[in-house]
Amino acid sequence: MPRHGLIDPKSAASGSPDREGSDAVDRYDVIALGEPMVEFNQARDGDRSAWRQGYGGDTSNMAIAAARLGARVAYATRVGDDAFGRLFRALWRAEGVSEDAVATDADAPTAVYFVTHDERGHAFAYLRAGSAASRLSPANLPAGVIRSARALHVSGISQAISTSACDAVFTAIGIARDAGARVFYDPNLRPRLWPRDRAAAIARATMALSDWILPSREDAEWMFGTGEAAAVIDACRRAGARGIVYKRGADGCVVDDGRSRVVIGAHPVTAVDATGAGDCFDGAFAARLAAGDEPVEAARYANAAAALATTGYGAVDPLPRPADVDRLLRAVPRTGVPNAAGGPRGAR
Ligand SMILES: Nc1ncnc2c1ncn2[C@@H]1O[C@H](COP(=O)(O)OP(=O)(O)OP(=O)(O)O)[C@@H](O)[C@H]1O
Ligand SMILES: [Mg+2]
Repeated sequence: MPRHGLIDPKSAASGSPDREGSDAVDRYDVIALGEPMVEFNQARDGDRSAWRQGYGGDTSNMAIAAARLGARVAYATRVGDDAFGRLFRALWRAEGVSEDAVATDADAPTAVYFVTHDERGHAFAYLRAGSAASRLSPANLPAGVIRSARALHVSGISQAISTSACDAVFTAIGIARDAGARVFYDPNLRPRLWPRDRAAAIARATMALSDWILPSREDAEWMFGTGEAAAVIDACRRAGARGIVYKRGADGCVVDDGRSRVVIGAHPVTAVDATGAGDCFDGAFAARLAAGDEPVEAARYANAAAALATTGYGAVDPLPRPADVDRLLRAVPRTGVPNAAGGPRGAR
């Protein structure tokens, strides 16, 4: 597998992306760490007491997206000794996501959430406090599996679910960096999970330890008070980020690898549900970097994969396969304007 990494002089000094002498066994391209949640989605019409069961949890979505797109993926989490934990294990097995780093916690449940619908739109309700995954801690981390991966993916949700899980994320990052692995971070800041100031402080600290950060517009507005692309990327860099992919929903993304900044427009698709689009982007980006793509090519691919993820309902069902992404990329001419977000009138 080719080694590929960041183009930033700092990375050589910190030894982060392409460290020589790594002791990683190289069994997985990426390991994601966080909380899976079983979804119950209320029927929109007719019998409102009917619920359709699905799957969510940002890092689980990311892991499945990366696996569907060809990466060797492991997922690190804890599930309850319950029907939902077993459903997730079956899902990951079916999707080719390794359970090597999944533990069963006999004393805590797998988290669930509900999506309800009424005339005002849809709303989420979570039953996740005290979940098995929230009992992740530095002491029970699957350190050996993390060491055997070439990249680690974590998110602000992995950090927000509990203090011990937050500690576990920092410990996992340390293990990954020591093993020469690349670190991906999606801030995925959720105001319902933790106070803004703590979230922003933790996110900044994590950015400084990550090779690639993948914030959304909501994340940027929360952390930096602006969604303007050039300002967001500059703020990320000041926080110590090396590579940045700024995800901008229906406006596509901006990728900045420290050497160039490229604006990539969104693919015109009929979006019906953007849930999990950002997670799909993260998984596709990691999968393509693992396959040897340059960062801009990987972001272009991820931008197409994430567009496809918006064309169906739920977070997992519409995650695309390589043939789907290839078809969309062939159908649409290349987009991407180098450095367009760098100037005073750059992308917003
Ligand atoms: N309407 C859309 N049309 C085309 N592509 C889209 C659309 N919405 C999202 N995307 C793609 O998905 C990517 C991620 O979307 P978004 O910025 O909404 O992520 P997010 O807020 O992190 O999502 P989430 O956290 O809910 O998974 C975008 O950068 C873009 O590539
Ligand atoms: Mg997101």
